[in-house]
Amino acid sequence: MELKKTADGSHTLFVPELNETYHSIHGAIQESQHVFIKNGLHYFGDKKTVNILEIGFGTGLNALLTLLAIENSSQKVDYISLEKFPLPNELVQQLNYPTQLKLDTDQKKLFNHLYICEWNALTPITNNFNLLKIDKDLADFQYETIFDIVYFDAFAPEKQAELWTDEIFSKIYDFLKPKGILVTYCAKGVVKRTIKSVGFQLETLPGPPGKREMIRAIKN
Ligand SMILES: C[S@@+](CC[C@H](N)C(=O)[O-])C[C@H]1O[C@@H](n2cnc3c(N)ncnc32)[C@H](O)[C@@H]1O
Repeated sequence: MELKKTADGSHTLFVPELNETYHSIHGAIQESQHVFIKNGLHYFGDKKTVNILEIGFGTGLNALLTLLAIENSSQKVDYISLEKFPLPNELVQQLNYPTQLKLDTDQKKLFNHLYICEWNALTPITNNFNLLKIDKDLADFQYETIFDIVYFDAFAPEKQAELWTDEIFSKIYDFLKPKGILVTYCAKGVVKRTIKSVGFQLETLPGPPGKREMIRAIKN
């Protein structure tokens, strides 16, 4: 695994075996902010409590941006994140997100807490952001229907076809509350068709810099 700088200056990780990066090379922070925060979290406006499920904790960037987005608000987020291959701490410590996001000392501590907190234990990171990281494969994960949003941030379908199936999307549909949403950076035709086929209403939105489109799918 190698650290790599993307076009907005923020880091991503490159996985040689997959020939794939964790984020868009056009800008990791920009992509995360656009797909998951602007078109995901903010879709629910100032809803009091938002329950989020993330597929792929990885570098923790989406969790960090979500925490920062609600930092000075009365909104509360309960965030569950699945990760099949947790990253080693030494690697995560080298990510330049604190500098890129100009985090102050307290925020840097929160960033660190996202990584060092125990797996499989619900952890209050701030008074309005609870995190539960689960080191499990999505295929083996079962849960109640409690989520408002699923951040679907798996590796691309060409690299990880087994996570972009109707079976998986149908499972995610069941995790969501009525009117809940799934957001993902991928907008391939086959993915749109699969997501639609399990019952979602599909929205194709402009993508982040360097990408034409992204998907937001709403549970009917
Ligand atoms: C594209 S990366 C994005 C990660 C993260 N959201 C980030 O911003 O760094 C995809 C992540 O999904 C994880 N992953 C892959 N297969 C998985 C599976 N079956 N279940 C849960 N997580 C998986 C990978 O290990 C990786 O961390």
